[in-house]
Amino acid sequence: MRELSARVKTMTSSPTLKLVQIKKQLQSQGKVILDFGAGEPDFPTPQNIKDAGIEAIHGDFTKYTPTSGIAELKKAIRSSYEAEQGYAASDSQVIVSPGSKYGLFLALQAVVDPGDEVIVPLPYWVSYPEMVKFCGGRVVYADHTRPERLFELTASSYIAPCTSRTKAVIVNSPSNPTGKVMAGEELAELIDFFQRKNILVLVDDCYRKIVYSDVAYPSPLTRVPAAVEHVAVVSSLSKTYAMTGWRLGYTIACESLAAAMTKIQEHSTSNPCSISQKAAVEALSGDQAAVRAMVEEYRRRRDYFAGRIDRIGRIPYALPDGAFYFFADFSHFIKEKRFQDDNQLAMDILEKLNIILVPGSAFGAVNHLRISYATSMEVIREGLDRLEAYLRHGG
Ligand SMILES: Cc1ncc(COP(=O)(O)O)c(C=O)c1O
Repeated sequence: MRELSARVKTMTSSPTLKLVQIKKQLQSQGKVILDFGAGEPDFPTPQNIKDAGIEAIHGDFTKYTPTSGIAELKKAIRSSYEAEQGYAASDSQVIVSPGSKYGLFLALQAVVDPGDEVIVPLPYWVSYPEMVKFCGGRVVYADHTRPERLFELTASSYIAPCTSRTKAVIVNSPSNPTGKVMAGEELAELIDFFQRKNILVLVDDCYRKIVYSDVAYPSPLTRVPAAVEHVAVVSSLSKTYAMTGWRLGYTIACESLAAAMTKIQEHSTSNPCSISQKAAVEALSGDQAAVRAMVEEYRRRRDYFAGRIDRIGRIPYALPDGAFYFFADFSHFIKEKRFQDDNQLAMDILEKLNIILVPGSAFGAVNHLRISYATSMEVIREGLDRLEAYLRHGG
């Protein structure tokens, strides 16, 4: 085998996807694993969406489509985005991709040159730093880890590390792993600052529709009207509609960025799956009752979780505003059990309790654990019973 490229050698594999493998391995040994590591809804894709996919297959809608997505889907994206977020995009501003992960990858590939800096939130979703490095860019962090701020997403955390080499910033709201939502005024301040410097603000809002507050999710594209050229919103159907395996995401950006991203997609993946595109039309324009029901269930689980974590005590956390993760500080127990760090604690919990939790180090925040509540109430109850006994009595 020839030597691999320097680019790929700097890349690490996804720690969260690695956990999926570990789980499968343990299950094949007959163990029953309680999985709080999942980054995907535990619900099935709603029936009307599945039916639209089946209809697409029966109707032979199984060939190449335009690279950036079929007109019918772009229309559904534009209409639903305008109704929800108040921004009317044109067709040429929309690019549909196989998952928002690829949308983010395309946007970064389109703007980042070797040596450019990209500001990434800390704690971060595991793929951001790897994607930036893959472009030859330098990762710079917007630090949201100060304990007294409870992971609050602020404009000042992004503005502080900005330099003349900054090319783009990534905002993730609601955040994975913390579930925090950036407030409208903070988002406006951030966009206003960076648009003046000609820096792209890339907003990953793939959990946008999974929020628990009654306050409307702030729209990045209308907050600062003069900034439209400098803002790109990357969205996903994966989480909202429990469609992770269908691989469907979309980006709304200025025409030149959308065209550049389309060019890269043209020569890499081509169009996203034709069947998934038809299913996505139904997801966005059909009945939204299933989404409301899923969000309500996530809220019920979040509240239950919070009550139980409070009862255990000495686990500081920020109540999630959205998404389906708790990001909690286990420093007290790591110290008490004389572990080195969160990795050791997570491994001990896995070995002794058969429970998967994701170490915070994977997101750049040591001594934390990410606990996903995208799993059934029965699993949550059982898992918390075991965890409580382990933490209280040394497991
Ligand atoms: C913050 C964040 N962005 C993007 C993605 C990618 O989602 P998808 O590619 O399925 O749209 C994920 C998935 O876990 C995520 O958590």
